[in-house]
Amino acid sequence: MQPLSERPRRNRRTAAIRALVRETTLTPGDFIWPAFVTEGGDTREPIGAMPGVSRLGLDALIAEAREVAALGIPAIALFPALTDDLKDARATESVNPDGLLQRTLRALKQELPELLLITDVAMDPYSSDGHDGLVVDGEILNDETLPILAAMAVAQAEAGADVVAPSDMMDGRVGAIRTALDAAGHTDVGILSYAAKYASSFYGPFREALDSAPKSGDKKTYQMDPANVREALREIRLDVAEGADILMVKPGLPYLDVIAAVRAAVDLPVAAYHVSGEYAMVKAAGERGWIDADRVMHECLVSLKRAGADMILTYAAPDVARMLA
Ligand code: PBG
Repeated sequence: MQPLSERPRRNRRTAAIRALVRETTLTPGDFIWPAFVTEGGDTREPIGAMPGVSRLGLDALIAEAREVAALGIPAIALFPALTDDLKDARATESVNPDGLLQRTLRALKQELPELLLITDVAMDPYSSDGHDGLVVDGEILNDETLPILAAMAVAQAEAGADVVAPSDMMDGRVGAIRTALDAAGHTDVGILSYAAKYASSFYGPFREALDSAPKSGDKKTYQMDPANVREALREIRLDVAEGADILMVKPGLPYLDVIAAVRAAVDLPVAAYHVSGEYAMVKAAGERGWIDADRVMHECLVSLKRAGADMILTYAAPDVARMLA
């Protein structure tokens, strides 16, 4: 046999050498923890398809957020779960200064001033149609939705949001939101844009959590076709031009090529959303004893970073941060 000239296994021989040659590291500082907010102080309503995740009342949320911050997780993304009586066609409740999300923002800002507060800008949690845009005669109207989103973002900023995250996929919304925030004096509030958000079947458990599934039709006229990657770069280019500060790809693991393409195309930070269905699959297989859920979760998140994500939204943030500690 020829003597081998290269032996890659030398760099894998011991834990010490593996640590030195490791190209990607995951730390709690990479995580954004998405949390579901509901009425009631100590309320904790478990979400069936998301083991370990609950809709939290304000006191429960503050307690968890305190723990999350202590683990070194810098940011939390808030999603309000509203009762049907507060939903209407124009998402009116989204600008109520005393609405659930606004009260939550004020309380969190006061209790945990260092924690970065990120809010979702989209109509669906507030909409009686369950769509991210205004529905008229079965159609999702683009330009008529923009002022609604802009007003929602300003209301969130007034209540203490540090970063607003439009997840609606209307054309031109980043620019409309930036203009409205600046006009209201919120030049320091950032925009984390869900720039390449796909019409994915992985959002199922999330829609259960918020009871926000579309009442009719689907989201394919605004969210992207899972088959496309060049189109993602077009969306990215527009969001950069309109003033986004951070760009997101969503879902995460099935779209690693998109994350890598976006990373290569821009100099802005890139976020990946490890979404509810991705989380649920790992947890479900773990509960059956088919996989080691903790290790698989860690591997998924490392992969998102390796593909080019600077930060990751994940429901597993507290668990994985504890694992890393
Ligand atoms: C709504 C929104 C969705 C998610 C985040 N914001 C659902 C959707 O677009 O229908 C999904 C997140 C997840 O599945 O974890 N604008």
